[in-house]
Amino acid sequence: MGSRMTMIWVFLSLSLMADTGAEQAGLFLTTYSGYDYFKVQASGPMTSANVNATCEAAGYAAPCAGLGSLCEGDCVQTGLDNCGWPMDEIAKQLCSGRASQCPQMDRIYVVMATTFRSGSACGVERAGCSGSVTGPNCYCATGNNYNNGYALCAQVGVNSCLPNPCHIQATCTDPPYPSTNATCTCNAGYTGDGRVNGTGCSDIVNACLSNPCHAQATCTDNPPPALDANCTCNAGYTGDGRANGTGCSDINTCSKSSNPCHAQATCTDNPAPALDANCTCNVGYTGDGRTNGTGCLDINACSSNPCHAQATCTDNPAPALDANCTCNVGYTGDGRANGTGCSDINTCSKSSNPCHAQATCTDNPAPALDANCTCNVGYTGDGRANGTGCSDINTCLNSSNPCHAQATCTDNPAPALDANCTCNVGYTGDGRANGTGCLDENACLSNPCHTNANCTDNPPPAIDANCTCNAGYTGDGRANGTGCSDVNACSSNPCHANATCTDNPAPALDASCTCNAGFAGDGVVNANGTGCLLQPVSGAGSSDIAFFLTLACTLMAILSTVSEQAMFE
Ligand SMILES: *[C@@H]1O[C@H](CO)[C@@H](O)[C@H](O)[C@H]1NC(C)=O
Ligand SMILES: *[C@@H]1O[C@H](CO)[C@@H](O)[C@H](O)[C@H]1NC(C)=O
Ligand SMILES: *[C@@H]1O[C@H](CO)[C@@H](O)[C@H](O)[C@H]1NC(C)=O
Ligand SMILES: *[C@@H]1O[C@H](CO)[C@@H](O)[C@H](O)[C@H]1NC(C)=O
Ligand SMILES: *[C@@H]1O[C@H](CO)[C@@H](O)[C@H](O)[C@H]1NC(C)=O
Ligand SMILES: *[C@@H]1O[C@H](CO)[C@@H](O)[C@H](O)[C@H]1NC(C)=O
Ligand SMILES: *[C@@H]1O[C@H](CO)[C@@H](O)[C@H](O)[C@H]1NC(C)=O
Ligand SMILES: *[C@@H]1O[C@H](CO)[C@@H](O)[C@H](O)[C@H]1NC(C)=O
Ligand SMILES: *[C@@H]1O[C@H](CO)[C@@H](O)[C@H](O)[C@H]1NC(C)=O
Ligand SMILES: *[C@@H]1O[C@H](CO)[C@@H](O)[C@H](O)[C@H]1NC(C)=O
Ligand SMILES: *[C@@H]1O[C@H](CO)[C@@H](O)[C@H](O)[C@H]1NC(C)=O
Ligand SMILES: *[C@@H]1O[C@H](CO)[C@@H](O)[C@H](O)[C@H]1NC(C)=O
Repeated sequence: MGSRMTMIWVFLSLSLMADTGAEQAGLFLTTYSGYDYFKVQASGPMTSANVNATCEAAGYAAPCAGLGSLCEGDCVQTGLDNCGWPMDEIAKQLCSGRASQCPQMDRIYVVMATTFRSGSACGVERAGCSGSVTGPNCYCATGNNYNNGYALCAQVGVNSCLPNPCHIQATCTDPPYPSTNATCTCNAGYTGDGRVNGTGCSDIVNACLSNPCHAQATCTDNPPPALDANCTCNAGYTGDGRANGTGCSDINTCSKSSNPCHAQATCTDNPAPALDANCTCNVGYTGDGRTNGTGCLDINACSSNPCHAQATCTDNPAPALDANCTCNVGYTGDGRANGTGCSDINTCSKSSNPCHAQATCTDNPAPALDANCTCNVGYTGDGRANGTGCSDINTCLNSSNPCHAQATCTDNPAPALDANCTCNVGYTGDGRANGTGCLDENACLSNPCHTNANCTDNPPPAIDANCTCNAGYTGDGRANGTGCSDVNACSSNPCHANATCTDNPAPALDASCTCNAGFAGDGVVNANGTGCLLQPVSGAGSSDIAFFLTLACTLMAILSTVSEQAMFE
């Protein structure tokens, strides 16, 4: 351990001597803000004075840990500016972390103000950190308690970039101690060693040689300092043009913002390089489909009228392709020219027949919606089911009664148009006013009287006749009654008690009286008669002469009666 340390010291001393010309013994840590920092082995307790002395002895300055009364002791301000966390800036350079996380910082102490912790320097004792990052020992162990650590020492650094050995298009970087050879780096877009005395910095070769562009993009090299190329998508394509970017895709001319089609058209992008789109009107629409063209109008299905001549055509709005056909008033059907069309509505059809059962229905031709109803023969009325209908014509009505005044009229039921006329009792005839009418019936024509009776017809409404027995006869005069018999004049005997009464036949009303034998006289009792007187028993006298005279008179009377009757007939 000791011999190895000695070797490092010797090496460092030699190289430092070469750089500065002074004898320096320290391990280079980093260059920061124009100063080179070193760590130098100290001996004894790590007081600020000892750290200061160690740096001075090694030919360095003792850097102040930062600004502020705790840090501003007898030290040199080198640009460190973190008094609260001393040496963190150095640690960041070395380890990209805190002092406690940086092994190179272990046991290094920095000078503090003489008033700080009784003259202690601040140091990193990682062994006492116990894995912590912020414990006191991690960044500011109290130097009085530790021996033989390292002093943080500094010296002004050499800036190899002054004067600048680099090309105007190069960036100069001062190299870390102990090198003094600046590094020249050509700026982006340039190539070369970056040195004025070298190859300098020239434009990088054409970035399009290793074409970063998409197959459908045109590559254009950008001048320095640009490293890249410009990729421009060819006409009809869109995108960043980069092979590993969005490339170049067909421009969708149907995209929302650029869609040239009408709202009712379907847009179909034409493939690149075409920049336009095809617009096709949707079903039910017609036109060029372009917003600024004829657009897309509802197809009027009525222009190629599919309706029947008697139908009204109404176009259905798109997307419907068809039209509605409505039959005009009075017509029925689907209204289509090639369908059932429109036929006259038959208002006489069974279901809608407005006529009475006894009426004949005649449909009125369209557009009329009604029917004519005509009552059948023998019926009268308006013929309507809900009107007066059709009732049997009463041919016996006063005005049209065809019967005689003495006839009874009986209407014949429809369809008969006539009436029956019947003569009232006692009358005879055809009963018609314009026929034989009704005449009094002569009851004597069918004579109900006895031969010896006289018949007399009774006036209507009597249907019988009167029968009167002729003179000399008696009875009810009826053929089927007691008839007429001869009146017996002997029943009221006009003869003398001694006379025999002989009735004279009708029409004689009287009787003949003959005195019985032994008596003489006319046999009649009345005042003019002689009666019958008892006569003598010898010869015939004048009484016989009187008897013959009487007989002759009687015969004469009979003969005159017979001749009278013959004359009458
Ligand atoms: C630091 O060292 C220099 C030179 O030896 C000395 O002049 C100065 O007083 C010292 N400072 C302290 C605080 O010891
Ligand atoms: C470049 O080279 C010339 C001649 O060798 C020398 O004089 C000059 O200083 C050099 N310049 C730089 C920046 O090194
Ligand atoms: C400085 O570095 C460059 C590049 O590495 C090199 O070409 C050149 O010789 C170096 N100069 C010195 C003096 O080392
Ligand atoms: C490349 O594109 C950038 C940005 O659009 C533009 O400024 C530049 O001029 C283009 N370069 C060429 C060579 O076209
Ligand atoms: C594209 O490729 C380049 C070069 O290989 C690379 O630098 C860049 O990051 C890539 N870009 C994408 C978006 O992948
Ligand atoms: C657009 O219309 C044209 C002409 O009708 C036709 O040649 C072409 O194929 C159509 N493009 C598309 C994408 O349908
Ligand atoms: C419609 O607009 C396009 C693009 O603006 C134009 O090219 C075209 O001529 C226009 N067409 C009509 C009929 O105005
Ligand atoms: C066509 O008829 C249908 C069915 O009756 C109806 O829904 C529609 O509204 C009608 N269209 C027109 C334009 O009258
Ligand atoms: C009527 O004509 C239309 C169009 O030609 C057709 O689609 C339909 O089937 C036809 N209907 C009948 C009943 O013929
Ligand atoms: C129906 O009656 C009216 C009025 O009497 C008449 O003008 C028309 O011709 C009749 N229609 C038919 C179909 O008989
Ligand atoms: C008979 O019925 C038809 C149809 O219901 C109606 O229009 C008419 O007024 C009606 N007539 C009478 C006299 O009720
Ligand atoms: C009318 O007379 C005819 C013939 O005698 C008879 O058949 C018919 O029934 C009569 N009508 C009436 C209503 O009495």
